Amino acid sequence: MAMGKLEKKFPEAYEICRQFELDEGAMRKIVQAMTNEIYMGLAKQTHSTASIKCFQTCVQDFPTGNERGRYLALDLGGSNFRVLLANLISAKEIDVISKTYAISKAIMEGPGIKLFDFLAESIAQFCKEHKIENDNLPLGFTFSFPCKHIGIDQGILVTWTKGFKSEGVVNKNVVEMLREAISRRGDLKVDIVAILNDTTGTLMSCAFQKQNCKIGMILGTGTNACYVEKTSNVEMFPAYQTSTKPHMIINCEWGAFGENGELDFVRTSYDKAVDRESLYPTKQVFEKCISGKYMGELVRHILVELMDKGVLFKDATSQILREREKFDTRFLSEIESDKPGQVRNACKVMDELGVRGTSEEDLLCLRHICQTISTRSAKLAACGLVSLIKKTKVKDIAVGIDGSVYCFHPHYHRLLMENMKLLLKDSAKFKLNLSKDGSGRGAALTAAVYTRRPPSPPKALSTEKQSSSCPKALSTEKQSSSCPLKASAPASMPTVRRFIQKVVWTFRHF
Ligand code: BGC
Repeated sequence: MAMGKLEKKFPEAYEICRQFELDEGAMRKIVQAMTNEIYMGLAKQTHSTASIKCFQTCVQDFPTGNERGRYLALDLGGSNFRVLLANLISAKEIDVISKTYAISKAIMEGPGIKLFDFLAESIAQFCKEHKIENDNLPLGFTFSFPCKHIGIDQGILVTWTKGFKSEGVVNKNVVEMLREAISRRGDLKVDIVAILNDTTGTLMSCAFQKQNCKIGMILGTGTNACYVEKTSNVEMFPAYQTSTKPHMIINCEWGAFGENGELDFVRTSYDKAVDRESLYPTKQVFEKCISGKYMGELVRHILVELMDKGVLFKDATSQILREREKFDTRFLSEIESDKPGQVRNACKVMDELGVRGTSEEDLLCLRHICQTISTRSAKLAACGLVSLIKKTKVKDIAVGIDGSVYCFHPHYHRLLMENMKLLLKDSAKFKLNLSKDGSGRGAALTAAVYTRRPPSPPKALSTEKQSSSCPKALSTEKQSSSCPLKASAPASMPTVRRFIQKVVWTFRHF
């Protein structure tokens, strides 16, 4: 069906979608406002009122590509908790074994002590399965929430985001809470050497291979970015004028942009409805416009309004869409993966939801709504990246990106590229790199960079079959991701090569 015809059939839907359009002028205004907030976040005098806080991360050292050995990594940031054992074998090979543990709503919203006991229990199970519970391996903890870092292994939670509400953790040192939970058990020895944000992990993981990677971004359930700043500009860092290290990664926490009203000129009544119904009204305004936790909800709110008007989905089964969070953001990726003019995936999505009696036109209209929300998301994310590229003043820069929206949406990368090019013109060259599992691998790499003692010699990871004794464990993956870090198959690694590696390692560390 031609687009003009669809618009004629659904004028109300098109009218709503027009409210989400962002022209170049609006985008430039947003870049300017984000840039202002970044400067305010960095400066001592204005930090407290800035919506982009630009937290110091204390990460001032970067991977050289020579990091080797075994490290543990933790990844907490969504509804799953992951424990990883990473073996840094060469500049190109990181061998990873990981296990995912589902976090129940009761734990996400219950007492903090229970959350940390759950984390400790999962780590202990994982380590016992791999017989490393007494190895005291260096551990990097990716904790993907706004944190004030007071040391590389000290982070104080500022606020929860993304559905977490665990009591008694805000304003507490989360590393201490984890250490206490581990020592309460008494059956596990690990050495927590670093706590980091997932954006930092993504940057570190990308920088392991690309020296010009200066920005890390996450577009998944939540959104955020970090970048490499001159230490002398990080006024909230006590040693900003005296530090011998010239750079520090800044965790922008750009999800909160808009909390000072900077996005009021683009926010629609649907954005406001999503905000009102969220766990943290008035907070994380930018995140609510662009990230995976909220994109599906925006589409759902539009659909409900069109259903109220009697425009769309007239079958009674469509009432299911009135249920909060019923329309998952992954549906946008699926629906937009259909070839233009086709509705095969859209049909499947409706089947999955149990909505019957939809016409082809209804589904094409649904696709138009999904595209509208994804396009605005990508345009806003492009504004954020452009503000950071301009701030770094690096003329040829790589950006490491991870997160479900960026990874799975069929057009997100292209939309980001197009809009960034539009805004940057020829002022800087940039590359957007998928930094697959940046949070996990980045945590291991950060632990490697900051480990206080030489890491254990490279050793092939156990390839034993995972036991499924833990009911909470969702999956155990032996990963071999191609982008950007390739995993190897250690079991097949020739003994001679392993021997040479050990000799080289010993030579390097002693
Ligand atoms: C958190 C950030 C995190 C981002 C992506 C946001 O909700 O505040 O710390 O980096 O989600 O996971």
